[in-house]
Amino acid sequence: MKQKLLQIEKEFECEISKVSSIEQLEEIRVKYLGRKEGLITIVFKDLAKLGADEKAQSGKLINELKQKITQAFEHKAIQVSGKTSAKAGKAAIDVSLPGIKRELGHAHPLTIVFDEICGLFVEMGFRVVEGPEIETEYYNFEALNIPLEHPSREAFDTFYLENKFLLRSHTSPVQVRFMEESRPPVQIVVPGRVYRPDATDASHSYMFHQIEGLLIDKGITFAHLKGVLTVFAKKLFGEKTKMRFRPHFFPFTEPSAEMDVSCIICSGKGCSVCKQSGWLEILGSGMVHPNVLKAGGINSKVYSGFAFGMGVERIAMLKYGIDDIRLFFENDTRFVRQFS
Ligand code: DAH
Repeated sequence: MKQKLLQIEKEFECEISKVSSIEQLEEIRVKYLGRKEGLITIVFKDLAKLGADEKAQSGKLINELKQKITQAFEHKAIQVSGKTSAKAGKAAIDVSLPGIKRELGHAHPLTIVFDEICGLFVEMGFRVVEGPEIETEYYNFEALNIPLEHPSREAFDTFYLENKFLLRSHTSPVQVRFMEESRPPVQIVVPGRVYRPDATDASHSYMFHQIEGLLIDKGITFAHLKGVLTVFAKKLFGEKTKMRFRPHFFPFTEPSAEMDVSCIICSGKGCSVCKQSGWLEILGSGMVHPNVLKAGGINSKVYSGFAFGMGVERIAMLKYGIDDIRLFFENDTRFVRQFS
């Protein structure tokens, strides 16, 4: 056995001295230290055939040789890789290789616009609240003064689920949900996702986002509505922005108005984005209908309020000059990365 070990040692010294690459080194490692068929493993197995005395002696010698080989091997690994890594014996780490790039995340453009708009209202004392996306017919329609047979239901048509549940087609249902749970003054904005059975194209999506606003107190008038929304539009689009309110119909407000801002692309001169009108429609608004206040348990003889609702994608598209709503939802990082 002693002879055999000396022979292994000699052979190893000879072979390791010729090594000049990691690949050769690995070959030698397998030959001598390999767990299954390495020479050291084999001589360890041979021990079993020996008598007790010789077994102890030879065992010690094999261990010494194994240590020698391991040390020489590690030493050589450092030389070959030119590095002083502690792990060099196993797999040398080439510290000159480029590292693994960790991508840093950032907010999605819609999140940026959500945060900016809600932030502006928070500065004016509004609270941000949310409501469920799976709604009942009652909150999506009836509580908002849209009776079953009323033609205006069609404008807020949606996807119907079982048991009279549906996907909300606007954030307005949260108005009534919130009123039911609180007493005036109410001053909230409601960001959220909404659904409509629209065919998808550059300006339509079956799912999009809205921000709803509601303010109720004693003595609230249309002047408050105009004041708040004027401050909002000027902060969002710039001090020079002009506003105009056009009469409109919404079942849940009376009177109702749509608000336009002077076109942020051409400053009102007329361009393709504003269809040469100089104006861009931004939101719907109005004085909360007495029936809606009643549904929320608020006495319309004592309190009054205004509400508004806007599409977040539309505002983001105008703000950033985005011409296709689908870009927001396709998860193409080339698009999203532009907002980091
Ligand atoms: N819910 C309306 C829609 O989806 C938007 C809206 C208009 C909300 C007027 C309001 C409002 O609160 O007063 O088109």
